[in-house]
Amino acid sequence: MRGKQDILVVETAAALADRAAHLFREIVEAAVAARGRSAVALAGGSTPRKMHVLLGQDPISSAIPWDKVHLFWGDERCVPVESPWSNFGCARKDLLDHINIPMENLHPMPGTLPPEEGASRYEKEVPEVFDLVFLGLGIDGHTASLFPGHPSTAAQEGKRKVIPVRGGAPFAARLTLTFAVLNRARNVVFLVSGKKKAGVAKSVLEDRDKGLPAAQVHPVSGNMVWILDRDAASLLPQELLNGTSPR
Ligand code: 6PG
Repeated sequence: MRGKQDILVVETAAALADRAAHLFREIVEAAVAARGRSAVALAGGSTPRKMHVLLGQDPISSAIPWDKVHLFWGDERCVPVESPWSNFGCARKDLLDHINIPMENLHPMPGTLPPEEGASRYEKEVPEVFDLVFLGLGIDGHTASLFPGHPSTAAQEGKRKVIPVRGGAPFAARLTLTFAVLNRARNVVFLVSGKKKAGVAKSVLEDRDKGLPAAQVHPVSGNMVWILDRDAASLLPQELLNGTSPR
């Protein structure tokens, strides 16, 4: 039985970060209570960064059992961690340097290995089921590093959990979780902010354009929450907003 889909609209990017940070805490607390640990995949790009900063600050930070949280990444650019394009590098600056999380709980994608080798290695580290996966939305409808028309996107029904791709802005070699992993997650949370995302948010959420990778994310039994700020939601019909809709 498919889980539910919620579309939440909040006023500003700051409110989006706050709501997402509280959802992180809620889902992690529930996972730890149920299974003694939690596995979370963070999104890359700029939208989640405000949330990452909040997670590293009280009051939220001290409410999270970091020793029981394992952090992974949904995708990574194959660049050095010191690069401003590194998703792990940004998360380290915004969050990891500010929390007391055991090193063994950090699972960055091996972006400096040859991509095929990095993908194979990370597949061995990825849990069967994530408790929580954060995703962003590109203006072309990509999510993680699953890009429209990319041969790997079509091949997603394969057994691979991590694949190497090339694409995005910056155009780079990347590693990405596949739909097979995303759609097994217990909770998927999309974070979408800004006027420039309004059109693609409409294409995905109202038009359900299956040519867009973000529209192909449908947790088999998990829940999916879209959190958009007012600007990103500005083209969505009222009946879609702030409610639970069947998927
Ligand atoms: C990446 C991201 C990517 C991102 C979207 C939205 O590594 O590029 O994972 O999927 O989430 O491109 O990016 P912004 O949040 O910067 O708009």
